[in-house]
Amino acid sequence: MNQSDRDKKAGGLPNTRQDTRVVNAGRDPFSYYGFVNPPVYHASTVLYPSAEDFVAHRARYQYGRRGTPTTEALEIALQELEGPSCAGVSLLPSGLAAISAALLSVVQAGDHILVSDSVYGPTRMFCDHTLTRFGVTTTYYDPLLGASIAGLMRENTRAVFVESPGSLSFEMQDVPAIAAAAHAKGALALMDNTWASPLYFRALDVGVDLAIHAGTKYLGGHADVSIGTVAANQSTVAALKNFVRLNGLCVGPDDVYLTLRGIRTLAIRLDRHYRSSLTVARWLEQRPEVLRLLHPALPSHPGHIIWKRDFTGACGLFSVVFKPVPRQAVYAFLDELELFGIGASWGGFESLVIPFDCTSLRTATPWEPGGPTVRFHIGLEAVEDLIADLERGFAALAHATRN
Ligand SMILES: Cc1ncc(COP(=O)(O)O)c(C=O)c1O
Repeated sequence: MNQSDRDKKAGGLPNTRQDTRVVNAGRDPFSYYGFVNPPVYHASTVLYPSAEDFVAHRARYQYGRRGTPTTEALEIALQELEGPSCAGVSLLPSGLAAISAALLSVVQAGDHILVSDSVYGPTRMFCDHTLTRFGVTTTYYDPLLGASIAGLMRENTRAVFVESPGSLSFEMQDVPAIAAAAHAKGALALMDNTWASPLYFRALDVGVDLAIHAGTKYLGGHADVSIGTVAANQSTVAALKNFVRLNGLCVGPDDVYLTLRGIRTLAIRLDRHYRSSLTVARWLEQRPEVLRLLHPALPSHPGHIIWKRDFTGACGLFSVVFKPVPRQAVYAFLDELELFGIGASWGGFESLVIPFDCTSLRTATPWEPGGPTVRFHIGLEAVEDLIADLERGFAALAHATRN
């Protein structure tokens, strides 16, 4: 497919609503004998009709690693969801790989980058270890800085990385102001937008140059796939595509297909995660054991105004600060829960919970929540059952506190 065909396809059904777009984006049944979904191409070699065609690279698909109808269907679908500012999407084998590829596609030795202090821990590790080895320095900044991030920009600042909200501590960042400040100094804005997904926040629309998603979470949505995606605007797409191609990065066809399949139910799943997470968060907010909720969609959250201004929804992920109790009492609470699995990742159909402590992950801002912290992912179970499970957890917490 040439670029103009691709652009035409990525334009999709521009006047439709998101719920309609997730169902139709990137689908082209009559290219596949009318079957609703694209085939899963397990492919490396692509055969050419003649030596001349081979030498001239005359083929719609040239090599499995470079793209197949399956990968193309997902890229086009995501491009449509990201909106008209999106000039192309690349697929990477995990969310973290998408973060590292996006950063590496824009920096070079001698550059400086600004990264939010609330960023996903492994993003910080990548900056501190890999980028440092290649001569790129990182300054971590207070996630609550908006336009005043301009004061941290240096001559050699190439990129500002945001993650909003932070996926443990839930600070909301003023992304449009940060992107504008970055551009004013000739730098780029990169965002880990996994929490909102392109359905609840279209990062490229407000000036972000590279929007990253851990598709492992809501895009896949079933806790059975590892994938990352990077959406680029016109100013970054060539560098991104080149980086991915030159480094031989690609995703296995089954994971690509599972993600495509996940996207078809993304709107309806997110809507349920959103509603249930708010119900559970409001319930938790009233509990005497709870000091405060870290959920941007609650009016009590300090970033609520930004969330309301910029986002159209919230997912199932938020945190809770308990009133001070011994660590063992929190563990008793967690161990008592039957419907909340204890495990990393999120965005699947199931509810999850983890204890966490950001102290070792902060260098620019202190982490002083005022009590033990726990992160919940509210899944698709009946919300009444989840609340009943949490009631049992609180009984165990009370029992452990007394003993
Ligand atoms: C906000 C955020 N970004 C990126 C990632 C990385 O995704 P993956 O596990 O697919 O590498 C995670 C994983 O938990 C995450 O929470």
